[in-house]
Amino acid sequence: MRTSHRPAPQARALAGVAVLATALSACSGTAGPVPPPRAAACGVCHALHGEAMAGIYPILAGQHSAYLQAQLRAFKDGSRRNATMSPLAAGLGPNEIVALSDYFESLGKTPGALRPPQ
Ligand code: HEC
Repeated sequence: MRTSHRPAPQARALAGVAVLATALSACSGTAGPVPPPRAAACGVCHALHGEAMAGIYPILAGQHSAYLQAQLRAFKDGSRRNATMSPLAAGLGPNEIVALSDYFESLGKTPGALRPPQ
């Protein structure tokens, strides 16, 4: 059996999420909206302030909460399908869907929230 000291890819991905979570909690010390716990996992693709890390990821900041909730419920119940989002939404409870959607909507109303991450 080969021994390796490199962390498994999953461990490295989790470390990335942990770094984002730390960055998010640091942000919550400022005047901006407080992100719900699951928001760190969304930030990997949709970015810390919902402005999206790349063009293939939709911008969530400032989108209406009702629309975001409808999309997350649709991913969850299978009426909208996406290889990335469907399994992620499947793990969200009803309260998390509302909290995340309200959070991303609120970011569009925070002056300067759409700045790229520092
Ligand atoms: C690994 C990357 C990734 C992560 C992590 C991720 N998303 Fe997404 N998300 C996507 C992609 C790609 C799409 C576009 C899906 C499509 O084309 O239908 C999307 C679409 C969405 C949409 C629909 C937007 C619209 O305009 O219709 C919502 C809402 C959303 N994501 C919310 C979330 C939330 C909330 C989280 C955290 C729980 C999250 N996403 C985590 C990649 C990601």
